[in-house]
Amino acid sequence: MNETSLKKSLSKLNLGGLRYFDSIGSTNDEALAWAAGGANDFSLVVADEQTQGRGRLDRKWFTPAGSALAFSLILRPSAPELPHLSRTVGLAALSAADSCLKLGLAPRIKWPNDILVNGKKTAGILVETVWAGDEADSLVVGMGMNVYKPSVPPMDSLHFPATSLENELGNEPPAREQILREILTAFLSWREKIGADELVQAWEEMLAFRGEQVQIQSGGGAHVTGRLDGLESDGSLRLRGEHDNSVIIRFGDVKLRPIA
Ligand code: BTN
Repeated sequence: MNETSLKKSLSKLNLGGLRYFDSIGSTNDEALAWAAGGANDFSLVVADEQTQGRGRLDRKWFTPAGSALAFSLILRPSAPELPHLSRTVGLAALSAADSCLKLGLAPRIKWPNDILVNGKKTAGILVETVWAGDEADSLVVGMGMNVYKPSVPPMDSLHFPATSLENELGNEPPAREQILREILTAFLSWREKIGADELVQAWEEMLAFRGEQVQIQSGGGAHVTGRLDGLESDGSLRLRGEHDNSVIIRFGDVKLRPIA
């Protein structure tokens, strides 16, 4: 992947702007600064390598050169989108999942932000907000997808089993810029439905461990267990507790694990 091949592949997408880096600290950091400086809606930062890639819960995200997709998309929400911004991670997850489906894989979304293929993490999403007072001025949707085998982090650094598209396909995946085009094309079409029930239904249908017993661990150390039931309209997770009670898990400092 290089700037020329990327521009060519994305030429029909009407991006607000494009910045490509052979190597960068974190595309999310670059995008947050660009957004704060007035970037247009649907501007994109892409890097071949990240040296300070970040995940949720202050985790490191591994992006060695030549192996992965790492990008950050800047959104400037329109007035009708503002009430639905909590669905953005689902919108991004569905877009990534659609690109895996197109490759003949069977992806699942591990709430809130991971794409699993055959039960192993293949992509992760980190949504960050630039605030203007109480209102979101812009959102940065960062996504990392493990495309080739070297993008899979070393086993001893993993919090959850991981894989790559190449591993799961058993052969060479398409070029990364082509996969990125598929993800962004799907994103544009899901974005039109951000306020529609259809988006939450599709997200719910794609959830990993649906109907199974799971445990939610919060950063404070508390654990909640229950059967994974579905999603609330804002994208919060709904579990069914042992007394058939609903337990709602909001986005935040939480980890989801299946109970074997
Ligand atoms: C996670 O699984 O915790 C989210 C991982 C998000 C990684 C992507 S890679 C592109 C963008 N830049 C970053 O520093 N992080 C996101």
